[in-house]
Amino acid sequence: MKINGKHYRTIWVHQDDPSVIQAIDQRFLPHEVIIEDLKDVDAIAKAIKEMHIRGAGLIGTTAGYGMYLAALHAPRHSEEAFMSALVHAGEMLKATRPTAVNLEWAVNRCLEAIKAEKGIENKIAAARRTADAIADEDAAFCRRIGEHGLPIIEEISRRKKGEPVNILTHCNAGWLAFVDYGTATAPIYAAHEKGIKVHVYVDETRPLNQGGQLTAFELGQNGVPHTIITDNAGGHLMQHGMVDMVIVGCDRATRTGDVANKIGTYLKALAAHANGIPFYVALPSSSIDWKIRDGIREIPIETRSENEVKYIRGRTKDGKIESVLITPANSPAANYAFDVTPNHLITALITERGVCPATEEGIAGLFGHGNND
Ligand code: MRU
Repeated sequence: MKINGKHYRTIWVHQDDPSVIQAIDQRFLPHEVIIEDLKDVDAIAKAIKEMHIRGAGLIGTTAGYGMYLAALHAPRHSEEAFMSALVHAGEMLKATRPTAVNLEWAVNRCLEAIKAEKGIENKIAAARRTADAIADEDAAFCRRIGEHGLPIIEEISRRKKGEPVNILTHCNAGWLAFVDYGTATAPIYAAHEKGIKVHVYVDETRPLNQGGQLTAFELGQNGVPHTIITDNAGGHLMQHGMVDMVIVGCDRATRTGDVANKIGTYLKALAAHANGIPFYVALPSSSIDWKIRDGIREIPIETRSENEVKYIRGRTKDGKIESVLITPANSPAANYAFDVTPNHLITALITERGVCPATEEGIAGLFGHGNND
């Protein structure tokens, strides 16, 4: 998608130096567009852990490139030493963030591709090929999610006789959370491109404000009308008929359609349910954890530093990007990064293969039982 009129992906291989991965450092958005050079797997792990890059699809893609850089720098004197370095790199990457299953999925996919090749040069080539494939698929799948979600928005627009369709979203499941297009935003971008009037209510999404900072930024850069609201405003808007539908993203779904997404999503789903408003979750199949059925008990929920709750980051009037303390210095804070929305609160899932009920049968109808074929 576009920033200042120029098309970007969130991550790519350096045009002149294939040993360098470049990514937009999202800690500085919306104030500055800074491109970071990532030169080894440690830098990739740090970028994931410290959220220079974030969002399920982008975390997975970045991990794929991490495996490629690990392969480039692994010892070459024996295949055994090479593979052991790769397995170690994979474990290190998987330990960076626990909730988005795309991370584990991408690392395992790279490892399998590397193992399947004979000879170190071929293994390195396989790592690069696989990382590129993960990135390209991520963008292609998000585009398809847009195509499958578009008729839902079109139908509401028809019902409203062309009046703007008001869509509420939480956090950032936009193109900045993937390689391109995003998931929750893909149907919105598709509708906007087609000339359908849409307006997005963007939850600011404390504590890190991915909604107010990132979703608002990318919608604005791509011409989509939107309004930032506080995290607690959604229920009020829904009670007053100001929201036609909710679309959110997903960091990990169970095979039964329970969904983990940014903290606060569950409350939006409850409010939507209570007000009879359709609640959609958009996700690529790489976010489905086929091993688990019960999201509340089985999805690991990341807890992060209390400083993310106690401090808020922004740009001062003289242009500096700074964090300021907004709570009593000594009050403890708890920072749960995700919550689980049970499948019965979800109207449908929007995936790269189509729209389905958030049930085991619905998901299996599109994907079978987990082999993704
Ligand atoms: O902590 P983050 O920023 O990596 O969280 C991910 C998210 O932005 C949301 O949970 C998003 O809605 C799903 S990721 C596509």
